[in-house]
Amino acid sequence: MIDFFPILGFDHLEFYVGNAKQSASFYATLFKFTNTAYRGFITGNRKVSSYVMEQGDIRFVLTTALSSEHPIASQVFKHGDHVGVIALAVPDAVHTYQHVIARGATGAIPPTIAEDDYGVLHYAAIHAFGDVLIKFVDRQNYRGIFAPEFQPQTGVQDKRGVGLQAIDHVVSNVELGAMDRWVQFFADTMGFQLLVQFDDQAISTEYSALMSKVMQNSSGQIKLPINEPAIGKRKSQIQEYLDYHQGPGVQHIAFSTDDIVTTVSQLRDAGVEFLQVPPTYYENLEARVGKIDESIHQLAELGILVDRDQEGYLLQIFTQPVEDRPTLFFEVIERHGAQSFGEGNFKSLFEAIEREQALRGNL
Ligand code: FE2
Repeated sequence: MIDFFPILGFDHLEFYVGNAKQSASFYATLFKFTNTAYRGFITGNRKVSSYVMEQGDIRFVLTTALSSEHPIASQVFKHGDHVGVIALAVPDAVHTYQHVIARGATGAIPPTIAEDDYGVLHYAAIHAFGDVLIKFVDRQNYRGIFAPEFQPQTGVQDKRGVGLQAIDHVVSNVELGAMDRWVQFFADTMGFQLLVQFDDQAISTEYSALMSKVMQNSSGQIKLPINEPAIGKRKSQIQEYLDYHQGPGVQHIAFSTDDIVTTVSQLRDAGVEFLQVPPTYYENLEARVGKIDESIHQLAELGILVDRDQEGYLLQIFTQPVEDRPTLFFEVIERHGAQSFGEGNFKSLFEAIEREQALRGNL
C-alpha cells in the first residue's frame, strides 16, 4: 500500500522557555539527557539561545529569547515554559507542506532551506492548536550535529541516560468543543486515523471529567491524543491546564523504555517527582490485569501502574508537572504488546491529578 503521507518519526520537540541554560541543566540532571548541540551569542545568533538535549531517539530543543521583543519571549510570558513546536521527520518537506496546505492547513513557515558545510536541511511549518507549530523536517541530506548554526557540545557529560528510548506519544489539551475539530484537522491534512476514544463516562470522577481521542498516522509511529474538558460538578483538570497555560497546548509527553523499573528507580533517585498512587491500587492487581513479568511489590514501591488490552499489557507512570503552573508533565511507558493507552489506568491517573488539583485550590 502506498503511504500518501509518509512520516519517518518525531524529529524533535522544541520547548520555548524563560531560561534555556537552566532548563538544559534540569533535563540533564533529573532526566539524564545529554546536551549535544548549542546556538547562541557564541555561534553568532543574537536573538535566541538553544540547547539540543538527547537520549535514545528522543530529541528536545530548549530555546529562549535573548530580548523581550522576540516573539518567543511573549509566548513564554503567556504560557510559561511550553512545547512550541512538534517537529516530524519527513522524506520531503516541500511536498509535505504543499500537501497539507492544499488540504486546509495554515502555513507558518514556508518551505525553507538551511545550508552549511554539512549539507542541506529542508523544513517548513504549519499552525496547530493555540500557538503550537507542526514542523516538517527533511534532514536526509544533512550530516551536521542538528542544524546549521548549531555547534556540537563537547564538554564531559554522562551519556548513559536512564533508558528513555523514544517518544511514544504527545498529548494535547484543547478547549471545550474543539477536540473534534482538531481530530478532523489531522485526518484531513495528514491522513491520521482515530485509534481509540474515551468519553466522559469512561474518564470521570464524582466531580469532573474529560474526553479524549487518540489520532495516529498510517504507520502508527506518531500518536497524538487530544483531550478536551467535559462538564462536571467542578472544574475539569483539562480546564485547569487551559486556565494556567492560557489556551490549548501540549499536556504531556510519553517516553518509552524497555525496563521501566530501572528507569523509574533512577529517575526517582535523581529527584524526579511522580504522582502518588494509593496502595489500594495494588490490591488484587493480578486478578485485574492477569500475569505479568514484573514483581507487583516492586511496582507498588515505585508507583508504576499496569493495564492490559487484547494484545498484551503495559506499565506506565506519570510525573508531577515540571513547572510551577500545573501544565506540562511527562509519562514513562513500557509496552508488552499492548498498543492502547491504559484505559483502566485513566481513572487512577485522573483521580491522582484531581487530588493534586484540590491541593492547589483549583478544583
Ligand atoms: Fe499518555
